Amino acid sequence: MPGVQFMPFPHEYRCPLGIGGEAGVEALTHYFTQFIEDVESGVSLPAAVILEAVQGEGGVNCAPASWLRAIREVTRKYGILLILDEVQTGFARTGKMFAFEHAEIEPDLIVMSKAVGGGLPMAVLGIRREFDVWEPGNHAGTFRGNQMAMATGLATLQVLQQQNLAGQAERRGQWLKDRLVELQAHYPALGQVRGRGLMLGIEIVDERQPADRHGHFPMDPALAVAIQQQCFKQGLLLERGGRQGNVIRLLPPLIIDEEQCRQVIQRFDNAVAAALVQLRA
Ligand SMILES: Cc1ncc(COP(=O)(O)O)c(C=O)c1O
Repeated sequence: MPGVQFMPFPHEYRCPLGIGGEAGVEALTHYFTQFIEDVESGVSLPAAVILEAVQGEGGVNCAPASWLRAIREVTRKYGILLILDEVQTGFARTGKMFAFEHAEIEPDLIVMSKAVGGGLPMAVLGIRREFDVWEPGNHAGTFRGNQMAMATGLATLQVLQQQNLAGQAERRGQWLKDRLVELQAHYPALGQVRGRGLMLGIEIVDERQPADRHGHFPMDPALAVAIQQQCFKQGLLLERGGRQGNVIRLLPPLIIDEEQCRQVIQRFDNAVAAALVQLRA
């Protein structure tokens, strides 16, 4: 897109600067700040910065709180709108109503979709009052404001709050994450388990190849595909994401129960074993 500048996103496992750890996050924070503040950077001051607090398709990368806070500080200082894309992360998915809450920041705009309609098509743009300059009717369109989706969306919000599904997503997500970390001991191809709440990712790697200087092995997209297909055979539907499609993604319904969580782990375990036999035996 012309006029759009992409900036590197912190990544604990595959730091875009090759630094890693806290130092990598600090360097990226510095780079962002410097880019905005340097009038000779070659890019004029942007109207807005848009980001996901947990990248979804990007491979379940959780933005560090310190980085998000620094971005909020700089964007506020220079009058740049901060837009949080909560299309995947919104509505309790990450253990809080919105993923930016983990960093205790306040965006200027929030983009919402998917869960907001309770299964029916709806998308919502939340705008801080002082920036909402549209008059009623300005944002017109043939299919705007679908009444059925509004009703299901409202019902979904009530269920989310009444049943504290955010808290449940946090607890069940942590349980799943702990079990997946345990599986790493059996399968070195499960390079990293990451995510928040019920938005989890497992980076699939080829541990037979040389590791990078942080001890992380190269991505193994073929094995990730095989694991996904083996899961599918067992009735477990998993997504894939990440730069090379090598991150297996778990996005279960927020109402998943304990027994279903156990089933997920059991079937995933079987699928990894079967995929390794299929590709590496
Ligand atoms: C993070 C993110 N933002 C935006 C979108 C687009 O949302 P919509 O299909 O409602 O336009 C998607 C779709 O998958 C998404 O994952």
